[in-house]
Amino acid sequence: MDKKQKLVMVIRSQFMQPRGVAGWLVGWVMALRSSNRERNLWAVELLGVEPTDRVLEIGFGPGIAIQELSRRATQGLVCGIDHSEVMVWQASKRNRDAVYAGRVDLRCSSVEHLPAFEEPFDKVLAVNNMGMWREPVERLKELHRLMRPGGRIAIVSQPRCPGATAETTAAAGHEIASRLTEAGFTRIRSGTLALKPPVVCVIGEVS
Ligand SMILES: C[S@@+](CC[C@H](N)C(=O)[O-])C[C@H]1O[C@@H](n2cnc3c(N)ncnc32)[C@H](O)[C@@H]1O
Repeated sequence: MDKKQKLVMVIRSQFMQPRGVAGWLVGWVMALRSSNRERNLWAVELLGVEPTDRVLEIGFGPGIAIQELSRRATQGLVCGIDHSEVMVWQASKRNRDAVYAGRVDLRCSSVEHLPAFEEPFDKVLAVNNMGMWREPVERLKELHRLMRPGGRIAIVSQPRCPGATAETTAAAGHEIASRLTEAGFTRIRSGTLALKPPVVCVIGEVS
């Protein structure tokens, strides 16, 4: 492995679990990048959050979507988990007022070991992190169990591999859709956001 490949691996691992000073920087980059904000706001819009909803976000990173979710779920609750302590710190700071008001509950945990929240949830969101989960279908089945009938899940992906194109995004969308179906979600549909490469958001429901 040459130096460039090593550097790419280090940066990629920081996006998978930001740690230390480099993790702080990665969090700032995610928070400030206009394309990342656009992707997160678009995903929340598609999720269709209602004022009384109880929402769970997996892998919230610096907490951009959490901010938007709590702006919409004004009489509900927004919960979130991320396995990076640095991200929990940044997202908690970014959403400080809502956290103090008890409207946002952010915890350091992995999707593989979900903490107990007051379920059931009406909406679940994951932006650019399902590809990092172990046994994603098993994880989706667990999320399905935590959701209310009629609840909705949105899984978002913008492939970041070198040379990714619209075809890469389409393939990612098909894979997410088939995993959601295997986990028991119904009424699967998807939308795309025209970034480079495009972003796909796949929505499923609990019957
Ligand atoms: C690429 S970042 C995306 C962050 C955020 N969703 C956004 O779009 O700004 C992926 C995030 O998911 C978190 N993550 C990755 N795998 C996870 C897992 N198995 N359980 C919990 N969090 C995870 C990482 O710590 C990181 O904050």
